[in-house]
Amino acid sequence: MQIHSAIADLRAALKNRGRIVFVPTMGNLHAGHISLMEQARAHGDTVVASIFVNRLQFGPNEDFDKYPRTFQADCDKLAAAGVDVLFAPTEADLYPEPQEYVVEPPAIQNVLDGEFRPGHFRGVATVVLKLFNCVQPDAALFGKKDYQQLMVIRNMTRQLALPIAIIGGETVRAADGLALSSRNGYLSDAERAEAPRLYRLLNEIRAAIRAGETDTVKLEKWATAELDSAGWKTDYVAVRQQSDLAMPKGVDAPLVVLAASRLGTTRLIDNIEI
Ligand code: PAJ
Repeated sequence: MQIHSAIADLRAALKNRGRIVFVPTMGNLHAGHISLMEQARAHGDTVVASIFVNRLQFGPNEDFDKYPRTFQADCDKLAAAGVDVLFAPTEADLYPEPQEYVVEPPAIQNVLDGEFRPGHFRGVATVVLKLFNCVQPDAALFGKKDYQQLMVIRNMTRQLALPIAIIGGETVRAADGLALSSRNGYLSDAERAEAPRLYRLLNEIRAAIRAGETDTVKLEKWATAELDSAGWKTDYVAVRQQSDLAMPKGVDAPLVVLAASRLGTTRLIDNIEI
């Protein structure tokens, strides 16, 4: 596996490499990331991953400084997964001057996770567009685990006519249902034992809607109360339309249940499609 940190070196390495498939990450890789790398192979000739902890998408009181950085272990996993090229820029490589030109997503950046993480999706869209310009991929993969992120990137790619196919990968979970996340490492043993409650409740909401429940707001309130009485601090549990994350007009259109809640100081997100 080739590793490049400078944009010019990466571009030189990616000349005449056929169809390029790209999987951007912030490192601390787990089986969820690796499943995207493995799926990438089917979509092109050269698989490119990136590792870059993007300061722009973290709020002032978020975990940018303590975000786990495990570069050598990540390289081993990427090489074992058959990744051809790793782009691992430093901040000086990617942001040699303050990033003043940014991608400002529309109203979707202010709902759900965006409401609780102001500026987050601006930071994500900006770095993803910049990474796309560095790698110039034909296709890129993103996990459904970050459902709203996938939607922001799909919409950006369509509206800015980027010649890139955006592919969503299914969420990879631990045996007890907890969605794999780099942030799971922050959980104490007791919190880790409690954490699967989030996915269990999402499943219960899905089962209730499939069984004919139409009052989605009631289900949201019920699940929030279940979490909070088990010691969580819930930002939202929301039943939304898959197409635009708007409030559902009924329960017939494809829906998705999204949630964000904190166990101690660790914020977990998850979602399930109906
Ligand atoms: P990161 O959290 O490292 O995630 C990188 C990619 O892996 C994202 O597309 C994410 O949705 C996917 N992913 C994470 N956990 C997953 C799981 N359990 N199953 C399947 N896919 C999973 O998301 C980011 O980084 C950043 O915001 C980034 C897009 C790299 C921009 O900085």
